[in-house]
Amino acid sequence: MTVLVTGATGVVGRAVVNALREAGREVRALSRDPGRAAVVLGPGTAIVKGDLGDRDSLRAAVRGVDGVFLVSAAEHKPAHDRNLGTAAAAAGVDHVVALSSFAASEGDGSVLGRWHLEGERVVAESGVGWTVLRPNGFMSNALGWAAGVRAGLVRAPLPDAVSVPIDPRDIAAAAVAAFAAPPAGEVHVLTGPERLTTMEQVGRIAAVIGREVRFEEVPLAEARAALARRYPAEVADAVLAARVSAGAERGVPTGTVRALTGRPPVTFTQWVRDHTEAFGGIVSAANA
Ligand SMILES: NC(=O)c1ccc[n+]([C@@H]2O[C@H](COP(=O)([O-])OP(=O)(O)OC[C@H]3O[C@@H](n4cnc5c(N)ncnc54)[C@H](OP(=O)(O)O)[C@@H]3O)[C@@H](O)[C@H]2O)c1
Repeated sequence: MTVLVTGATGVVGRAVVNALREAGREVRALSRDPGRAAVVLGPGTAIVKGDLGDRDSLRAAVRGVDGVFLVSAAEHKPAHDRNLGTAAAAAGVDHVVALSSFAASEGDGSVLGRWHLEGERVVAESGVGWTVLRPNGFMSNALGWAAGVRAGLVRAPLPDAVSVPIDPRDIAAAAVAAFAAPPAGEVHVLTGPERLTTMEQVGRIAAVIGREVRFEEVPLAEARAALARRYPAEVADAVLAARVSAGAERGVPTGTVRALTGRPPVTFTQWVRDHTEAFGGIVSAANA
């Protein structure tokens, strides 16, 4: 089986490329910049140049593949997922495994939920076999605090916001499991093993690296301004709104990773141990 992975140079796509190769699948990585992708993914990865906004490039990219792992930016989902679904269906691709978000489970009341639901819908309507993965917040988002952790002070909004963060490697393992079965049009809500507030996550990081890390709450207006420096205004608002409305569903571990992969999801503490150096900690037998 050959699988085209979009977003292959990103957080989840990179983990999916690795997991598929370990499972013995042929992988083709899509990138807008194959030269940079070759550096990110290392030698031996087949890379195809393509853009989810460019239908011609997608027609060429899906030629001869059996499966597609689809990652697209939330704000482009409806258009980009339709482009990919159309190209995949025309090429006779068997199975598209699409990365969605917990935001879709919370309905179309939020912009983020609407974009993801629309992306799911256009993939399902493309006529190709599909599976949707709706992960909770990624544990890797905590790397955004790395500089603060190293300096002993993390500043973040919403200290009590709850999530059930998931290791991107578990999303990848779920994707590999999905490709191993015929597509059944299923939606899997993926979470990590435990519910944690923002402040609890920072406390876990401090405990693993063995240093004191203070926490300072950032007012929402400042958090929005920081997001708006990184994202278009609409995306900044959507991301912040999703964090503010941390709902009950997001606070419940689902058990889906274990059901799909046969093993429990990685704990946040283990994820931090695996990224100790990024937080300025020392890798030792105690945190290996
Ligand atoms: N962060 C969270 O907690 C969270 C939780 C649930 C769901 N999500 C969803 O996860 C998705 C993002 O995944 P990620 O964090 O793994 O991505 P990421 O690390 O932000 O990387 C983005 C990837 O998308 C590719 N890309 C961007 N624009 C493209 C285009 N026009 N055509 C083709 N490729 C394009 C980039 O590849 P090149 O630059 O190589 O082309 C890159 O590999 C979003 O839909 C987000 O809503 C995130």
